[in-house]
Amino acid sequence: MITVALTKGRLFKDFIRYLKNRDLQKYISVLENDSRTLYTEVDNVRFIFAKGPDVPTYVELGAADIGIVGSDILAEDSFNVLNVSQLPFGDCHFSIAGPPDVERFNTVASKYTNIARTFFNEKKQPVQLIHLNGSVELAPLLDLADGIVDIVQTGSTLRDNGLIEYEKILDVHARLIANKRTFYTKEDGIYQFLTEIGVMG
Ligand code: PRP
Repeated sequence: MITVALTKGRLFKDFIRYLKNRDLQKYISVLENDSRTLYTEVDNVRFIFAKGPDVPTYVELGAADIGIVGSDILAEDSFNVLNVSQLPFGDCHFSIAGPPDVERFNTVASKYTNIARTFFNEKKQPVQLIHLNGSVELAPLLDLADGIVDIVQTGSTLRDNGLIEYEKILDVHARLIANKRTFYTKEDGIYQFLTEIGVMG
């Protein structure tokens, strides 16, 4: 049995779309189940559903053997995992965004304050960063911040909240990560699963 950590949300929808394009019905029917159950099994693969930032923690500590996670999570914090490969889905990017009339970003809200800090440090631009856990688009609307550093995929969240992109910061993709020990001790099961879903072999 191998354990695969997934996150429900944007990346999960992309993964399901990817499986549908490859007609991998065996996994689709199990994963698309609407129940609130946090794990499910098919043949020798157990899937667990974690919050995005927790996926690398489960993998690092060996509770999961492999994980599918956005490179945003891996760029924001460091984890002791094997960063195996880029996956062909989950593409989006980080941008600095705000209302249309911002002349200078003095205060910026983000869920990703490490990525934001690196960006402004590289520009040698002093900034006050405010950490929020989501719905960061609210911050400039309420004058809590001049702008946000956030993930943009379709751009509709920004548009719907009257915000525009000022500068792209970083591309984001889905990544395959693995536990440093079980990636080798469970090599056969992991390889079989990855080959089956078409990301290896
Ligand atoms: C992300 C991001 C934006 C949205 C962008 O949020 O923080 O809010 O997706 O997608 P779009 O460009 O297609 O509109 P996520 O769904 O990950 O949840 P969050 O608000 O909790 O961060």
